[in-house]
Amino acid sequence: MRIILLGAPGSGKGTVAEGLRSAYGFPKISTGDLLREAVREGTPLGIVAASQMGKGGLVDDATVLALLRERLARDDCRGGHVLDGFPRTLAQADSLESIGAPGPEVVFDLQVSDEVVLRRLTNRRTCPKCEAIYHLLNKPPKTAGICDACGTALVQRNDDTSEVIVERLRTYHAKTEPLVARYAAKGALYRIDGDGPAGAVLGEVRKVLDAVLGRAESTGTGE
Ligand code: AP5
Ligand code: MG
Repeated sequence: MRIILLGAPGSGKGTVAEGLRSAYGFPKISTGDLLREAVREGTPLGIVAASQMGKGGLVDDATVLALLRERLARDDCRGGHVLDGFPRTLAQADSLESIGAPGPEVVFDLQVSDEVVLRRLTNRRTCPKCEAIYHLLNKPPKTAGICDACGTALVQRNDDTSEVIVERLRTYHAKTEPLVARYAAKGALYRIDGDGPAGAVLGEVRKVLDAVLGRAESTGTGE
């Protein structure tokens, strides 16, 4: 099964992807995380990507696709995976079709208002080592400033400033939102109200997935 999470910056893609990993074991493949890793390592690709990411624009399709192809080729993706933040352009969606996946494709559009996004992202803290996601009010770490999972000092992402968030939202509406209509036309899209508490959002997503997985098993089309 291939699960695609669409949604604005801060809509909860990473949070839902982590919930699905924990509930079903599907690896969470975040192109944002892969790019940030390349930036941290200072690879040539990371140096090019950093300037776009810092401005709230998109990294070029060929670069992101190369990273994604390499990640999806690993063994843990064979039984299914969750894509968080890919595709983000119509061209990326076209390319994705040439990379096979086992079982059905299910796409979720996490719908949140721009005001909620701003509130969420300015209070987000992340772990630069394991990419765990926190929120100062909604999901604080047990010890202030320290990752529960690996003990690393938490950071604020450098694209989580109000100026860059506004630009990321603009990029999302212009380049990524058109994908919603594309997947709706394919009959693969499920719209989820992303404004509720994180547990309720994950519950809605899981309800849909359980139904799809049940159908795939009963028709023998699952993995
Ligand atoms: P990426 O890292 O994917 O960032 P994004 O799309 O802007 O999304 P975020 O990670 O900011 O938010 P999210 O939806 O994951 O929300 P989260 O779960 O953290 O990409 C970064 C950059 O990389 C892009 O701008 C671009 O430059 C580049 N890039 C990446 N992919 C690319 C691609 N395919 N092509 C080209 N360029 C690409 O939640 C946010 C906060 O809210 C957290 O604090 C969380 O705890 C909290 N929260 C989550 N859900 C809830 C809830 N239901 N209620 C209350 N709080 C909640
Ligand atoms: Mg994310």
